[in-house]
This record gives sequence, structure tokens and C-alpha cells, in this order.
Amino acid sequence: MSVAKKQYKRITVKSLIEMKANSEKISMLTSYDFTMAQIVDQAGIDVILVGDSASNVMAGHETTLPITLDQMIYHASGVIRAVKRALVIVDLPFGSYQSDPKEALRSSIRIMKESGAHAVKLEGGSEIKDSIKRILKAGIPVMGHLGLTPQSIYKFGTYTVRAKEEYEAQKLKEDAVMLERIGCFAIVLEKVPAKLAEEVAKSVQVPVIGIGAGGGVDGQVLVLHDMLGMNKEFSPRFLRRYADLNTVMTEAIQHYNDDVKAKKFPSDEEQY
Ligand code: KIV
Repeated sequence: MSVAKKQYKRITVKSLIEMKANSEKISMLTSYDFTMAQIVDQAGIDVILVGDSASNVMAGHETTLPITLDQMIYHASGVIRAVKRALVIVDLPFGSYQSDPKEALRSSIRIMKESGAHAVKLEGGSEIKDSIKRILKAGIPVMGHLGLTPQSIYKFGTYTVRAKEEYEAQKLKEDAVMLERIGCFAIVLEKVPAKLAEEVAKSVQVPVIGIGAGGGVDGQVLVLHDMLGMNKEFSPRFLRRYADLNTVMTEAIQHYNDDVKAKKFPSDEEQY
């Protein structure tokens, strides 16, 4: 049974702002392909993020840095073909927007045109303000991303909680207000203290979606494969596993393997 306050046929950036105004929490998950996105959309998730975490989850890279714009467009196109209700946001990958606003706009236009996505997401605050403004000016909705920004992993060296120091917290708060002021429709806050995240969410009208940012924000996002328990190794404190698909899938595959070896598959009924 749905606990949504209002039924939306199609989620838009305006719906998300309305949800925040109505104190309805926003649900967001990643997807990187048609089949999974279809399940996520049909389950009623509000926002699907084609995250650059595809670099880790789909390609097995250690960081999000190697994934290319072409690869993001490939993943996003499959997701868009599956989705009927959710808002689909696509990450601008590392190297596709940092050099200058024109490049950021060119990359965003490619994502919107070639995949059919509804919005883009970029990591960073004041450093990329001009790029965000340029994208917004072209009519492309932008989601900000502050706190832990995995594309800057080599600058920080670890994936630990961000903005624990006062000066970092202050910059984060200023960046969030700036992102709202220039026109971002929402902000992701990754791995920051819950109290700070709540303060940020209260200081802006646009929704703040948290991952490892506590319950005082306007919505939650998780990486789909992590919350489904497909990956046994990754166990951060903020992750709740809603299934153990790793075990379910391993057992099913082992069962099939055994049946093939034992000549139990296919049966008479399973052939022509
Ligand atoms: O790439 C991603 O999956 C993300 C989420 C963790 C917010 O940016």
C-alpha cells in the first residue's frame, strides 16, 4: 500500500518541490539499465539517478572517475526507455564539466538530447557555479551534489564523513544556499553529519536528498545494487540492505549449474 500523500502520474522537478512543501519524503534510487529501471519505476520510486556509480557497480572500477560521457549516455538511454513515472536524473561524469561552462553545457545537451533524460547532476559548489548557471540558462534542470563528492576522491584521499570541521560545514551551508539561489531544483547531500544535513534542508526551499545524511532531510537515495544486497563487501553504516540478492542469485545459479551437470535440465516439458 502506498503511503504517498498525493498520487503523481509523472514526477517532474516541480513535483519534488511540492513534495517538500507538503512534507512528503522523496524516494530516489540509482539504476543503470532497462530491466532494473523498469522494476524500480513500477515499484513507485520518485526519482531514478543514473549515477556515475555505474563506474563501480557496472564496470568494476575502483572510483567513479573512469566512466565516460558516452557510457553515461548509454546507461541513461536504457533507463529512459523503461521509465513511465519517475524523474530521471543523469550524472555528468568526471571530466565532462570541470574545465569551463561551455563544456559543461555541451555535455549536458548531449545527455538530454541523446538519452532523453529529464535533468543532470553535478558535484561541487562555488567552484562550478558558472557552469551550473550556464546549464540552467539553457533550460536544463540541475541537481547539485555536496558533502562527499566521489569525483574528488584523490583530493581528499578517503570516503569518510565530510564537513565535520566548522569551516567545511560553513562552506557547505553557503554552497547549498547558493545552489538554490542560482536555480538548482534539488541538492544531494552525501555522508555529512545528520544535524548539519537537517540544518541545510531547513535553510532552503528546494528538496535536499541525503545518502548517509540522516533522517532530517527531504528524501533518501541509495545505490540500488547495495540496498538489494548484491554486493557483500560494501557495508557502510548508512546502508540498509532490503534483500540478500547475492545469496538468492548465487543459489539459483548454483542450482542451474547442478541441473545442467546432472542432466536434469532441460526436462521433456522444456524442449520442442
Ligand atoms: O553516483 C551515484 O550513485 C550518486 C549517489 C550516491 C548520490 O551520486
